Amino acid sequence: MTVPAAPGPGSREVASGLTVYRGQILHFLDDPAVAGEGAHVYHPDGALVVQDGRIVRADDWREVAASLPASANVIDYARQLLVPGFIDTHIHYPQSDIIASYGEQLLEWLERYTFPTERRFDDPVHAREVAAFFLTELLRNGTTTAAVFATVHPESVDAIFEAARERGMCIAAGKVLMDRNCPEFLRDTAESGYEQSAALIERWHGRDRLLYAVTPRFAPTSTDRQLELAGRLLEAHDDVLLQSHVAENHDEVRWAAELFPWSRSYLDVYDHFGLLRRGAVYAHCIHLDQRDRQRMAESGAAMSFCATSNLFLGSGLFDLDAARAHGVPVGVGTDVGGGTSFSMLRTLAESYKVAQLARQRLSPLAAFYLATLGGARALGLADHLGNFAPGMPADFVVLDPAATPLMARRMERAEGLVEELFVLMMLGDDRAVAATYVMGEERWRRTP
Ligand code: GUN
Ligand code: ZN
Repeated sequence: MTVPAAPGPGSREVASGLTVYRGQILHFLDDPAVAGEGAHVYHPDGALVVQDGRIVRADDWREVAASLPASANVIDYARQLLVPGFIDTHIHYPQSDIIASYGEQLLEWLERYTFPTERRFDDPVHAREVAAFFLTELLRNGTTTAAVFATVHPESVDAIFEAARERGMCIAAGKVLMDRNCPEFLRDTAESGYEQSAALIERWHGRDRLLYAVTPRFAPTSTDRQLELAGRLLEAHDDVLLQSHVAENHDEVRWAAELFPWSRSYLDVYDHFGLLRRGAVYAHCIHLDQRDRQRMAESGAAMSFCATSNLFLGSGLFDLDAARAHGVPVGVGTDVGGGTSFSMLRTLAESYKVAQLARQRLSPLAAFYLATLGGARALGLADHLGNFAPGMPADFVVLDPAATPLMARRMERAEGLVEELFVLMMLGDDRAVAATYVMGEERWRRTP
């Protein structure tokens, strides 16, 4: 048995042969809010066995050590916590540069900050530079998979997929569809949006770990014809994803009602055009009614709970209990740049506070479920990623529960896993991410 020095970022060493990562290991088989104690698997002194970039086994260290071949590499993370890579179910890579822009609510924020910055993504050089920064930022925060909005420009989609491919990441992304109610410089047409999306699906969907997501920005910036053609794309490709926004802000909801006077509700617009199904993820879902939630549950469409964005843009409070009561799949989204952090830990902290404001509970175990397997389920990808079942890709994050002096001090008093998770999610951020692995390759390591 050898204990090699920890490899540097991008090292290929660990992908060959058998590598065992020793540490605390936690992953989920189900939602703890529904399935209770049986939903999670925890090994306080555990071993994650990885071969050729995939999980062989997650078990107690003692069990694994007894049968370990002498040639196996062992990387000992001691008391650090290994969990599946975080899955961010809603984020905009072109908005990396406008995170933390002052003073507006949704519609004014789009006009004042978002559209001008998205304009620059017709330039592939700019798009590539931002895409590289963005993916590094995801990895620094322990996020290994995300559903990503590009811009209206096909070049912006090429840039994010090329960068994801270089890093071996499973990323879903799509070209924004927007043929009205936006500046001329960001407008496509129903037909050009359809053609360009179809060509991008052809070029990227299913290549390595890349997935295409049909991406109507939100109903107010698409004509009926554009939404109809988005539905056609889904019909023609039953495994592409769909991502959009719904019921985020009161003015937006009123506007959608004016633009689609025949609709029963904002969500009903998407339903009418065949845009609700498994693998369709809707960000925000705040101002919905019970019939909307029922429709989402029936169709398999998912909600992305974007707490930092909802607070920052003053949009409202996501009703987690209502989503759960209807059995709608829920994931967590950072929604950068409306959201204020790339960190899924920080986003879980704000999610907890949003639940508190409604006298609801987001337990630490349920929170880590939402950030991992819950996200995979929301994207319709739970057969392919989200936990440490044998055969899954070895996408995982090493969390340091004592990353800061304050965390170290608080952890001394933490009794057991659940309390430790709570401190991690309430006080942790990118400083708590010691390393991030994608398909068994180390893609991020915190510098001491
Ligand atoms: N609704 C339509 N576009 C956007 C966007 O870029 N961010 C957010 N938060 N909501 C939107
Ligand atoms: Zn968004």
